[in-house]
Amino acid sequence: MKKTFLFVDILKAIILFYSTGVSASVPHKTVTSSVNKPVEMVGKKNVEEKFIANLMAKMTLEEKIGQLSQYVGREFLTGPKSGELSDSLLERGMVGSILNVGGVVNLRNIQEENMQKSRLKIPILFAFDVIHGFKTIYPTPLAESCSWDLDLMYRTAKSAAIEASASGIQWTFAPMVDIARDARWGRIVEGAGEDTYLGCKIAEARVKGFQWNLWHPNALIACAKHFAAYGAPQAGRDYAPVDMSNATLAEVYLPPFKACVDAGVQTFMASFNDINGIPATGNKWLLTELLRNRWHFKGFVVSDWNGVIQLKTQAVVEDENDAAALALNSGLDMDMTDGLFNACLANAVQNGSVSVSTIDVAVKRVLSIKYRLGLFDNPYRFFNTERERKVVKNAERMQIAKEAALKSIVLLKNENKTLPLSKSVKKIALIGPLADNQSEVMGSWKACGDEKDVISVYCGLKSKLGTGIKILCVQGCDFSDRSKQGFAEAMKVAQESDIVIAVLGEKALMSGESRSRAFLSLPGVQQQLLDTLKTTGKPIVTVLMNGRPLVLSEVEKASDAILETWFLGTLAGNAIADILVGDYNPSGKLTTSFPRAEGQIPNYYNYKRSGRPGNMEKTSTMRHIDLRNENLYPFGYGLSYTQYRYDNFVCPKTFDDKGKLPVSVNITNTGEYDGEETVQLYVSDLVATMVRPEKELKQFKKVFIPRGQTVRVDIELDARELGYWTNDMEYKLEPGDFAVMIGPNSRDLLCKNVTLKTIPVDLPNKQ
Ligand code: NOJ
Repeated sequence: MKKTFLFVDILKAIILFYSTGVSASVPHKTVTSSVNKPVEMVGKKNVEEKFIANLMAKMTLEEKIGQLSQYVGREFLTGPKSGELSDSLLERGMVGSILNVGGVVNLRNIQEENMQKSRLKIPILFAFDVIHGFKTIYPTPLAESCSWDLDLMYRTAKSAAIEASASGIQWTFAPMVDIARDARWGRIVEGAGEDTYLGCKIAEARVKGFQWNLWHPNALIACAKHFAAYGAPQAGRDYAPVDMSNATLAEVYLPPFKACVDAGVQTFMASFNDINGIPATGNKWLLTELLRNRWHFKGFVVSDWNGVIQLKTQAVVEDENDAAALALNSGLDMDMTDGLFNACLANAVQNGSVSVSTIDVAVKRVLSIKYRLGLFDNPYRFFNTERERKVVKNAERMQIAKEAALKSIVLLKNENKTLPLSKSVKKIALIGPLADNQSEVMGSWKACGDEKDVISVYCGLKSKLGTGIKILCVQGCDFSDRSKQGFAEAMKVAQESDIVIAVLGEKALMSGESRSRAFLSLPGVQQQLLDTLKTTGKPIVTVLMNGRPLVLSEVEKASDAILETWFLGTLAGNAIADILVGDYNPSGKLTTSFPRAEGQIPNYYNYKRSGRPGNMEKTSTMRHIDLRNENLYPFGYGLSYTQYRYDNFVCPKTFDDKGKLPVSVNITNTGEYDGEETVQLYVSDLVATMVRPEKELKQFKKVFIPRGQTVRVDIELDARELGYWTNDMEYKLEPGDFAVMIGPNSRDLLCKNVTLKTIPVDLPNKQ
């Protein structure tokens, strides 16, 4: 709904001015002075406990339940709708948290109103989906994962936290750590790809980045979501049921969440799906037994949007009352948006289905986070328009945005050294619906990003190339409509030019929540456009923007070079231009396999062994009769403008008695450019009680190698990482032979065998 300033709003601002000593748009005095003030109470557990106990002693049951209720922000008192914040809720102290309201002034208005109207004046906690940036937009998480640069991911999360917290936000619903092996699932764009080992490292980096200065007003508290297995919906349809073995759950989908707990994440979000028939929102084993009792998570758990009422739609309860009671009793602390806790929990206490002590435990968890954030000390602590002015979209944010965009790009094909652009190119045909687009490149969670700040490919290339090289930019066709009207003009500029750069792909919201697709080729007539351009005989560079792996078999045939740029955010155009002209040598590697056809899905690299290994030529093997098994582009794959040779792989024959295995390999940069290579180490358990994957990533290292030089890379493998999960959810490591593989991607590997004679005594009990 559009925000309108009414007379009543102006009146309200005047009243606020006189009643609080501040106008709605001027920072509160205490805010400026408290920005750098440490929260003295943090770490003083007794003081905190006493404070919370005193406060809770004053709270009515209704006020307690209110702390467990989160609402969507209303736009300037437009009145209550279902799940929306209303005046009376604020007055009754029944709003614990608000999500997705942007702008210091709006947040301040709500907080001030809360502080004036509610009896106990418990500050509201403000949350926002800060997924890949707030106002400065960074590459989508999937894009950024292709950098394999953990420090970078820490820094983008930190930078987003600095920017969002300066705008009054305290809590982000990120990182999403769902492993995804299905490109049809639109939310694959929000995660770190298909691999659990890499997913754990990235989860840790992102949690630590958002929470870099935890409890201070320039950091955010993070939220590990969506707990759990949300990335494995049947047929890749968002919100679909999840059915899997305990072993797969424990081995593939749970570890990134555990990594978040270990990294100190403060909140969790329960997922929409059921796991083997039990909805996550009402799953006591998941939310209490695993998360609390085994992992010792101390923060609080929020539902996903209307997740509590959905227990009724999932038909595991008869009515709303039972839904609220089941969720709370299972270990859910906060109800997002459906208002069911507020509507039902007091009755549930009366009829005995919920105990006050269960409510108290949840309330304490929420109040403790507010306390540590210093909100009781100063509820306006995060609102500081001066700091907002200084940090938002400043040079530091932009520098990180550019670096992240550069490192996220993956070069998929480069025949005849089509890229970087040759000096002889004088005229470029820049064609496609994304060639001069500023809004789609921000991706699926653009938060408060403004397309006016975004550099399109056309603008990036124009400012890079100056006036010496002509760029003829036309759209050619739209994203998904079938009109070919623009083809003639596209052909004309292609014929006139030395090279064609086709910028094709998906709209931002063809991936993301509720954006599953059954067909994964280029939408609309974009493939036909590309095929038509190919008939000109000009070299074709395809620049792709998309939120998921696409089926690129036809794009591959029509292109001399392919750059996968995903959605890169604010400085997309600058980064793409740098790579096109060779000012930056691409170094990204895929974190998700690209299928040849939709029928291959799920098509991850770490498949378990079959008793009849796949062979396209042979019947009765694990294959499709009409398509070879191998992915078009495997996990870990990505080219460079230079070439690397791997040799002299040294690996001892056995693990040492501490369970360590030091391996090393030479990598020589044999090409013409300096470059950064990601060395990947995979392991396979050659005989185990359970069927094991052909290979699993266990380590990686990024190394810079100047052209013509050789670098020796040392990696130490730890046997403790080589175990697996049983269906009884036990972590097991068996002695015997393992294959250790090293190389530039999951396909092209040097291999040695090694024996593990004795199991380390300190084998971690991982759950
Ligand atoms: C629903 C999404 O599933 C979740 O990821 C998001 O954080 C919430 N909506 C809040 O916007």
